[in-house]
Amino acid sequence: MDSADGLQTPQLTFEEGVKAFFDSAPPFENGDGISEKLKQFIAHNSSPPDGNARRVVCVTSGGTTAPLEQRCVRYVDNFSSGHRGATSTEYFLKAGYAVIFLYRRGSFQPFCRSLPDDPLLECFESTSDSNIRVREAHAEAVKRAIIDHHAAVADGLLLKLPYITIFEYLQMLQMTAMSMRCLGRHAMFYLSAAVSDFYVPWKDMVEHKIQSGQSDLLDVKLVQVPKMLKVLREKWAPSAFCISFKLETDTNILLKKASTALEKYKMHAVVANELSTRKEEVVVVTGSARITVRRDKSTNDDVENPLIKLLSGKHDSYIEESSR
Ligand code: PMT
Repeated sequence: MDSADGLQTPQLTFEEGVKAFFDSAPPFENGDGISEKLKQFIAHNSSPPDGNARRVVCVTSGGTTAPLEQRCVRYVDNFSSGHRGATSTEYFLKAGYAVIFLYRRGSFQPFCRSLPDDPLLECFESTSDSNIRVREAHAEAVKRAIIDHHAAVADGLLLKLPYITIFEYLQMLQMTAMSMRCLGRHAMFYLSAAVSDFYVPWKDMVEHKIQSGQSDLLDVKLVQVPKMLKVLREKWAPSAFCISFKLETDTNILLKKASTALEKYKMHAVVANELSTRKEEVVVVTGSARITVRRDKSTNDDVENPLIKLLSGKHDSYIEESSR
């Protein structure tokens, strides 16, 4: 890659790129607190009071940002509403998993999909005696969201960890993966977040807001984010069942790219989806099989319902394989 003065900077090996990413990341805020939460959550679910150990899935959701300034005003964003991750979390909980939900702050949340866009202002109204009550039209949706969400959190089945930047996301994914290592094959990663492919290393980033008006061109050098799927599989959690996603807008290249990712990163399955039809159907690429999963329109079902059933069945087989 060319440096600003026109000289060639040496290409980093993959391992050097991974090290450079973490070395250049800003300090991980509240890392000790998050590590403690993970430890407790995993201990609770691997040896719960009722003696029924649960499988644990880490669902990543939403899109990461790559900041352009240390005191960030501008950033490069990745498209994802978080709908896939939030919906999948609900079905994983139904399937008996405990879920670590690693999500982009402000994106869709589990159990809140039936609520209007601005739930606080649209679901509640003030009464004549200055109290607040739920509007009749939203009463059932609010009740369901609160009961289901609080039950999952209170039973220690749902741990929510928010991120915004690519630095926070990968620092937390690494910490989560290392914490889940002790679960062996009972751990699953469901990587539906849209992850930045390029970033500005922290040390190269300007501190203050980039000033406009100095030039017609904004000259920012972005470095490729190493594909952490490889590190996750090889180092962070080598026994876990790993599912990655492939999003494309051109259906002609989608399945080929998904198959390449399956092989290159040694994923157990890759879920291929096309942007405009992603809520209707996905294709699960696993081994040499390509399984199309469709939403049942007649029952107004979510595509995540059959998808999670299929993937948890594959996870069952993966766990059973080790006991043969
Ligand atoms: O949130 P919604 O609006 O419901 O949309 C859901 C979705 C379309 C975002 C989701 O279903 C999806 O496809 N997510 C992956 C999107 C994507 O762009 O993937 P990718 O091609 O950047 O990356 C493929 C895989 O590599 C991902 O699983 C990602 O976690 C991983 N990755 C990516 C970059 C990187 N540097 N390291 C990685 O490990």
